[in-house]
Amino acid sequence: MTIGKLIDGKAFASGLREQVAEGVAAFAAAQGRKPGLAVVLVGEDPASSVYVRNKGKMTLAVGMESFEYKRPATIGQDELLELIEELNGDPRVDGILVQLPLPKHLDEQAVIAAINPEKDVDGFHVVNSGRLAVGLPALVPCTPLGCLMLLKDELGDLSGLEAVVIGRSNIVGKPMAQLLLAENCTVTMAHSRTRDLASVVHRADIVVAAVGRPEMVKGEWIRPGATVIDVGINRVPSTDEEGKSRIVGDVATSEAISHVNAITPVPGGVGPMTIAVLLRNTLVAACARAG
Ligand code: GUN
Repeated sequence: MTIGKLIDGKAFASGLREQVAEGVAAFAAAQGRKPGLAVVLVGEDPASSVYVRNKGKMTLAVGMESFEYKRPATIGQDELLELIEELNGDPRVDGILVQLPLPKHLDEQAVIAAINPEKDVDGFHVVNSGRLAVGLPALVPCTPLGCLMLLKDELGDLSGLEAVVIGRSNIVGKPMAQLLLAENCTVTMAHSRTRDLASVVHRADIVVAAVGRPEMVKGEWIRPGATVIDVGINRVPSTDEEGKSRIVGDVATSEAISHVNAITPVPGGVGPMTIAVLLRNTLVAACARAG
């Protein structure tokens, strides 16, 4: 029986961070300052706090400046918008990231719209999503760009391949579909209302699963030889005696591994790519601002 390859996102991300660190050193030598990333964290959600801490550490590790702005969950919309304005005008800041989700009383779209698109290293501003859609250079959302890098590393030219993206979020699904379209894939976007998802998925040479439902995509849905990118990070109760929870993806990897070409594991696949691409986007933004 053939066994599919596990794509090592951790190793790829580490190589990407090394490249970014070289670019950062060259930028600092030419400009006399380091690129800077500002991260805004509202409230104390434990998962968000862990992400923000990791981002800060890795930002420093590639030689950039890291600025963290922690604000209470009770912050008002106007006060948050004032902070964004301050960062827009701060010459040391090349990238601004507001950790999502925000508390319910805040208007997420208005906050994203307030970020200078040139500093929008998440690629969430409509200027950047519009630029991506029409094929202009843009800051591109980190997770889907990381997925595309892994796919191109694995498959080379993606032209003409059938790609199915499951999930239509602004953060992953929609930009992922745009990126695959730009690579000349035939793209299908599937979602919670898609009829007969199994047969839609079965046409795909490339499956990107970003739905946030543990092991929803069954192994038998996936065509032999397909390449699978699993964006899901789902915590599920354990089935063993110790009772510890486990992290699983959106794909039933143990069922799919026997017949796929390659698949990203969870954890260790897409997850490590997001921060590495964020650092790359910050360097890109810094270089563009420096002219
Ligand atoms: N929350 C989960 N993923 C992300 C991300 O990529 N960017 C931001 N800003 N918040 C997130």
